Amino acid sequence: MLKCPKLYLTTALVAGLTALPLLADPLGLGRAALPEEIAAWDVAVMPDGRGLPPGHGNVYDGEDLWIDHCAACHGDFAEGAGAWPPIVGGRGSLTAARPLKTVESYWPYLSTVWDYVNRSMPFGAAQTLEDDEVYAIVAYILYSAGLVDDDFELSHENFSEIRLPNESGFYIDDRAVVEFPIFKQDPCMSDCGDAVSIVARAQELNVTPEFPVIRYSFSGVSLVEAPVAEDAPAPQIIEEVQLAGLDPALVAAGETAWRQCRTCHQIGEGARNGTGPALNNIVDASVGQVDGLRYSPAFAEASAGGMIWDAATLDAFLENPAGLIPRNRMSFRGIRSAEERAALIAYLTSHMD
Ligand code: HEC
Ligand code: HEC
Repeated sequence: MLKCPKLYLTTALVAGLTALPLLADPLGLGRAALPEEIAAWDVAVMPDGRGLPPGHGNVYDGEDLWIDHCAACHGDFAEGAGAWPPIVGGRGSLTAARPLKTVESYWPYLSTVWDYVNRSMPFGAAQTLEDDEVYAIVAYILYSAGLVDDDFELSHENFSEIRLPNESGFYIDDRAVVEFPIFKQDPCMSDCGDAVSIVARAQELNVTPEFPVIRYSFSGVSLVEAPVAEDAPAPQIIEEVQLAGLDPALVAAGETAWRQCRTCHQIGEGARNGTGPALNNIVDASVGQVDGLRYSPAFAEASAGGMIWDAATLDAFLENPAGLIPRNRMSFRGIRSAEERAALIAYLTSHMD
C-alpha cells in the first residue's frame, strides 16, 4: 500500500513546512504554503469520512466502470483473476491456515478502499478516475461483497453509515495488560519439571506433509509443480496429464488466463507491441527478439546468452518472471498454478504461423 506518490509528497511537504520558519528568515527564500496548496496535497480520507470530496455513484454505473477498468485483473465480480488479488470473498477465513485477506474479509474501513482506489488504481493508470467514478466503483465493490443491494448509491453523505465486516477485528494493542503479566512471572531456574525423555522422532511421526503435485508434460517437456524448498522431499506425483498436440480445452483455458497479460501484450492477427512485445510466434523463439521493442538490459543479456522460449523456459518465466531474468521490466508477479501456466503456453503455441 505504499505505492502512492501523493503520500510521499505529503510527507515531504510536511517535513518541508516544519523546517520553513527556521530557514525563511535568514535566507529570505520561499514562502509559507497557502492553506489551499496544502489542501491540494492533503488527500487522505479518514474512517469518519473526513477528506472525502463531495460526490456519488451507484452500483450500476460502478459495474460498467469495473468491467472497463478493473475486471481484467480483479475478475468480473471482484473475485480476482489469476495472480491478481481478489477484492471480495474470504469472510471468516482469517483464522484459517490460509486466510484470504480482502476488502470484504479484512479491511476495517471503507475510507481506505475509497482512498486506495482513488490514489493507486487502475494499476498502471493511477489517478485517472473522477471522484464520482470512484464512488460508483466502491459501491460496486460493496455490492460484490454482498453488503448492499443493487439499487444502492454511495455518496459522501451516507459514506460513514457503511461498516465493513472486520472493523471489530482491529483493536488497540492490549498486550501490556493481557500478556506482559504472564511473561513477568519469575522464571523457573531449576527442577522445573519431570525428566525429559525422547518418545519419538519427527521422521517416524511423519510430520513433514507431502504436497500433492500434478505433473504436466507438454511438447515432450515435463512441467512439474516444483516442491516449495530445494531440500523439500521429492514431489509425489498424483496425476500425470499428457498434453500431446494442442488440447482445445487447454487453449481455451489459456485464453481466459491471457486476460492477465493483455494490459501489456497483444497476440493474434494485427498484434502490435504495447508495454510488452507482441507475442505471436514466441514459442521456441529467441528471448528479446521481437522487432521494435526496447527491451531491458536484463533481457538483452539473456538474449545474448542464447536463451530460447521453449516450454520449460516459458514455464519458469511465467511462474516467476524476476526469478528467471532478474531486473527485467515485466512487472508481473507470476502464476502459481502449473495448470494455468501450461494453459497459457498452449495458448501461445496456438498463435504460431
Ligand atoms: C493491470 C492490473 C490491475 C488493474 C487493471 C487494476 N488493479 Fe487493483 N490491484 C492490482 C495489483 C497488482 C494490486 C496489488 C498491489 C499491491 O499489493 O501493491 C491491486 C490491488 C488492489 C486493491 C487492494 C487489494 C488488497 O487487498 O490489497 C484494490 C481495492 C484494487 N486493486 C482495486 C482496483 C480497482 C477498483 C480497479 C479499477 C479501477 C483496479 N484495482 C484495477 C492490479 C490491478
Ligand atoms: C505489466 C505489463 C506486463 C504484463 C501484465 C505481462 N507482461 Fe510479459 N512482458 C512485459 C514486458 C515489458 C516485457 C519485456 C521485458 C523486458 O524488456 O525486460 C515482457 C516480456 C514477455 C515475454 C518475452 C517476450 C520476448 O520477446 O522475449 C513473454 C513470453 C511474456 N512477456 C509473456 C507474458 C504473459 C504470458 C503474460 C500474462 C500471463 C504477461 N507476459 C504479462 C510486460 C508485461
